[in-house]
Amino acid sequence: MRNPHIMKSALLLSSLFTPFARAQTGDLYTDSKTNITFWRETIDSAQTKGGMQWGYALPGTASGTNDEYIGLIVGSLQSGHKGWSGISHGGGMPNSLLLMAWVDGENIKTEFRYASGYVAPDIYTGNATLTQISHSINDTHFSLVYRCRWCWAWNQNGATSQQLPTGDSQVIGWAQNLDVPSNPIREHNNGQAQFGAPVASARNAAYTEWVSKYGGGVTTPTSTPTSTPTSTPTSTPAGPTTCVGTPAPTQTFDYIVVGAGAGGIPVADKLSESGKSVLLIEKGPPSLGRWNGTMKPKWLEGTNLTRFDVPGLCNQIWVDSAGVACTDIDQMAGCVLGGGTAVNAALWWKPVPLDWDYNFPAGWKSADMAAAESRVFSRIPWTDHPSMDGKLYKQEGFDVIASALAADGWKSVTANDVPEQKNRVYSHTPFMYSHGQRGGPLATYLVSAYGRKNFQLWMNTAVRRVIRTKGHITGVELDGGNGGYCGVVNVTANTGRVILSAGTFGSTKLLYRSGIGPKEELQVVSNSVQDGLSMINSSDWIDLPVGRNLNDHVNTDLVIRHPNVSFYDFYGAWSDPIKSDEDTYLSNRTGILAQSAPNIGPMFWEIINGTDGIARSLQWQARVEPSPPATDNTSMTMSQYLGRGSTSRGTLSINGALSMYVSKVPYLHTQEDIDAVVKGIENLQKAIAKVPGIIWEVPAPNVTARDFVNGVPVTAAKRRSNHWIGTAKIGTDSALTGGTSVVDTNTKVYGTDNLFVVDASIFPGHIVTNPSAYIVTIGEQAASKILALGTTGNGQTGGTTMAGAYKQCSGRGYKGPTTCIDGYTCKVWNSHYSLCLPN
Ligand SMILES: Cc1cc2nc3c(=O)[nH]c(=O)nc-3n(C[C@H](O)[C@H](O)[C@H](O)COP(=O)(O)OP(=O)(O)OC[C@H]3O[C@@H](n4cnc5c(N)ncnc54)[C@H](O)[C@@H]3O)c2cc1C
Ligand code: HEM
Repeated sequence: MRNPHIMKSALLLSSLFTPFARAQTGDLYTDSKTNITFWRETIDSAQTKGGMQWGYALPGTASGTNDEYIGLIVGSLQSGHKGWSGISHGGGMPNSLLLMAWVDGENIKTEFRYASGYVAPDIYTGNATLTQISHSINDTHFSLVYRCRWCWAWNQNGATSQQLPTGDSQVIGWAQNLDVPSNPIREHNNGQAQFGAPVASARNAAYTEWVSKYGGGVTTPTSTPTSTPTSTPTSTPAGPTTCVGTPAPTQTFDYIVVGAGAGGIPVADKLSESGKSVLLIEKGPPSLGRWNGTMKPKWLEGTNLTRFDVPGLCNQIWVDSAGVACTDIDQMAGCVLGGGTAVNAALWWKPVPLDWDYNFPAGWKSADMAAAESRVFSRIPWTDHPSMDGKLYKQEGFDVIASALAADGWKSVTANDVPEQKNRVYSHTPFMYSHGQRGGPLATYLVSAYGRKNFQLWMNTAVRRVIRTKGHITGVELDGGNGGYCGVVNVTANTGRVILSAGTFGSTKLLYRSGIGPKEELQVVSNSVQDGLSMINSSDWIDLPVGRNLNDHVNTDLVIRHPNVSFYDFYGAWSDPIKSDEDTYLSNRTGILAQSAPNIGPMFWEIINGTDGIARSLQWQARVEPSPPATDNTSMTMSQYLGRGSTSRGTLSINGALSMYVSKVPYLHTQEDIDAVVKGIENLQKAIAKVPGIIWEVPAPNVTARDFVNGVPVTAAKRRSNHWIGTAKIGTDSALTGGTSVVDTNTKVYGTDNLFVVDASIFPGHIVTNPSAYIVTIGEQAASKILALGTTGNGQTGGTTMAGAYKQCSGRGYKGPTTCIDGYTCKVWNSHYSLCLPN
């Protein structure tokens, strides 16, 4: 699901504020004490209790002083001067220089921090420098004017990034907390978001004068350290850290599956069903109660339930992600047993046949997938009435929107009864909940696998990379974790196989660290402190477009309100559930807490025909919850997902600290993608107009759909749906021979004998719906294909695993070994023939 914009405290207090108060506005403001003029953004108190301001002044011209500014923070204070206010110099929270400020007695304290994911940020170890110019404190706010040097380019132990003020605008993030920072630091609980800052408005020729007066000396372009992150001095670790954990048992396995998520669990189960020995390695801790998970609120103590089991707590990941979210990616993903299937909202869709037919290669068309699909749905059925009494709770939101769609001629369907019908239809939401609790692969495939003697599950153990000689994988190297294993675990000699199911971010990272991917990414790994010295030699790198073709549903949030609708506080249910709801849930799994937060539905779909001849799918997912700038308790957010047919693609990269980041967002690069999003909104506006009581909040009634869409920043924080796919594309056109695919139709990585990828990363393009049921189906299908390869020669003819000198090693229709003997490398001769040539 799309990330909700949780403004818990603001929401609870929303009745105290005008629902249509200004959201964010920029103006020029001159500070009376210093006479410094700032371009200033004001975030009003409907967004964050007490409001917040941030302003900045930049040197008169873009030059060598790109890396500094004079800033203004006006943060809100609660009684006793409590509260911290923070900004992100890169806009998003992860991979960015964060600055926090709070009151300490008569003074203001500041701290630079840095986080590689949506987890507690560490103290920043780079050289950003803050000089305080002036401050004031009263009962409700503090104000700080500061000079920030080396703040637009940052380097945290080799993870570099920057947002220099050299373009038209910059994106800045803000966050506030109602209390002073704790140790360890806790997530902001008084709102967070981003805004755009117009660079030209912040520039001022008087900057040098201000700096000489207040900023600790004149700064001239020549004496300022340059702004490129590579040239800024930083404290990078002296050497690689060693694995912390227990030595791995010396056992070999026919299959090692890396990552126990939507793809990994079913593939591991099906492979173990064949009698082969299978090891499933998961880097995260247990999640559900049935797997001895322990993370839970007080009211679940004494039960076998955790936060992951209870549908009504599924959004807790957006409130408290520490220990759950992956720490090495700049997006949200679950790094716990079950991966996304442990933390998601559990929407569970029968695949749309055209999704397979349009996107996937031969062997993966809808007719090919039918058997796998029916196996998946017989093991994991769907329900659109998750409460055990068969009732649906608080359906006012569904009713309001459904009445508009019906009035406009949209058809009501039961989506999973007619998966192919996805144009101008609406439906209740199907989930993979079972007996009022989270079901899915964790409650089915993993249970059957676990019961087999030939299956092992290692949790809290991260895999560092695969170990390979040329294209032949002999095992995996472990990275330990919270009590996990270190060392190497091998696959059965000659016939063993490794399957990467670590998700779009995790599998891409493992491929990079294993020397498989574009040279520029592998070079980053090779230059890293952690892997540089031990990475596979560059002569053995396999050049495939891993990390390219990144896609995600393009999200656009609209908001309406209607007096019939009312917000149920699923977030409050974490610490203080309504007693009767707690009781009915605990005693018989009935009531609203058996439904996903925050009241998801209706779901509705439309197809938009593009001028490029492509029919694009839109899925709308409504929920009873406002999104900024709306705060009213009667609001509903309708998230539009642009899916099948989208033609924009992005890139997933790795940085020097070996964290993954979206280096190019996959959103709205083509006019036809933009047009589809706009047209979908216009069509919905027409439908909503049929019910007079519905009031538009976003876009505001006087804003056109196109202006609105053009005004929403195309950043991951604003546009993501958390349905990342595509970075190890499946296809018959090997990228080694001029094509675009990373894995073949058996999911085997081109150029390797026995390395497979089975997870969201193999999708060539996006689909209509939320993807987890498709990914489980891919797990089923891939297992059949991999098993059908047999064991000799890993499916290659002749039983040999390496091609000899000057022998064919790849090409159209070629099925033989793709790895060359020592001293030779597989090189493209022409578009259908590659051969082993001396290195
Ligand atoms: C908040 C949220 C809500 C969502 N809601 C829905 C929804 O309602 N319905 C839906 O269909 N989809 C939803 N999705 C998307 C869906 O859950 C994912 O697309 C899906 O889980 C991806 O499957 P996967 O197998 O590719 O990866 P994942 O399920 O992410 O599994 C990857 C696993 O690999 C592990 N791993 C990673 N690296 C390593 C390593 N080096 N060593 C060992 N283990 C490793 C991870 O810890 C993880 O367990 C949601 C996603 C999020 C984040
Ligand atoms: C334990 C500490 C923290 C955790 C677990 C955490 C987690 C999160 C999460 C989950 C989001 C996404 C919210 C959403 O989209 O609904 C987010 C956003 C954000 N956080 Fe944090 N956060 C923490 C601390 C901080 C700190 C100290 C700052 C300092 C400035 C900060 C700045 C931001 C900003 C600017 C955003 C909005 C931009 C974005 O979504 O990337 N966070 N945080």
